[in-house]
Amino acid sequence: MASTHPQNSAGKPRILVTRKLPAAVEARLKRDYDATFNPTDSVFDGDRLVAESAGHDGILVCSTEKLPAAIIEKLPPEVKIVATFSVGHDHIDIAASKARGLAVTNTPDVLTDATADTTLLLLLAAARRAYEGERMVREDRWGRWEPTGMLGVHVTGKRLAILGMGRIGRAVAQRARGFEMEIHYNNRSRLSPELEQGAIFHEDPEELLTVADFLSINCPATKETHHFLNADRIARMPDGAVVVNTARGSIVHDESLIAALTSGKLAAAGLDVFENEPAIHPGYRDLPNCFLLPHIGSATKETRDAMGFRALDNLDAFFAGKSPKDRVA
Ligand code: DGY
Repeated sequence: MASTHPQNSAGKPRILVTRKLPAAVEARLKRDYDATFNPTDSVFDGDRLVAESAGHDGILVCSTEKLPAAIIEKLPPEVKIVATFSVGHDHIDIAASKARGLAVTNTPDVLTDATADTTLLLLLAAARRAYEGERMVREDRWGRWEPTGMLGVHVTGKRLAILGMGRIGRAVAQRARGFEMEIHYNNRSRLSPELEQGAIFHEDPEELLTVADFLSINCPATKETHHFLNADRIARMPDGAVVVNTARGSIVHDESLIAALTSGKLAAAGLDVFENEPAIHPGYRDLPNCFLLPHIGSATKETRDAMGFRALDNLDAFFAGKSPKDRVA
């Protein structure tokens, strides 16, 4: 591979790989790079990440590794690129990366379907009380079929409000149309009619909430969306609404959501992502109307392979002196 960047004596760029990746991805890394792996798969905290980066031309990280400005400024000068094995890049300070001339790439597209599938899983499971029903069966507490037992929220024909109509939001909408849901959305800008597919645009996200029988959070985590779903905004939603989140936990104010699920203002929630995960707010654990998953939105074999290959495509382009397709800094 021709390179305009520093390389080791074997002529291959030196890459620090912070987490254990799928076997096929690691095989390609071994073939094309002078790769340093993390055999314990432990998460490198800031200073450890800085120390381990020494002597590497690039680092391949996951959303578990946090790169705020203070860490980016301390990275050794030989590190020229951070490729993240994720579509989200809120764990990396993009402005600080640009200021330092550090390239940053992510992995969009390839996880859209898996994440949208997980969103529908959460939506259905939360609405139809899957957690309660599953426990009842396993714990041998299922007495008999009851005409009035385990009544959930009807999904078909309801209004689905999607906050963030990017690739994943649109894939959620496409699936929800199969349940005859009426799609409403808010996005930074209105989509073209081809992408909208009849979905109803709400310029004001506050107004979107008023029609949210179901709210699906699919926007990126930014300063603007931090704790977007708070008590005041939940109060605007219809009584008995359902919230699902496969984006980032920081978009939800946990205490407000827990209070609304406890009071019955909201019927249920389905959550795959949490602020400060895996140390989630303990209040969620006690709520039977909350269906919880451990951030597995993109966790299929096919998707994780594709995410790894996409990250490597970006590194390949960068070290060949080309512009990586998914460059965000
Ligand atoms: C993503 O790709 O952003 C997933 O949430 C994994 O971090």
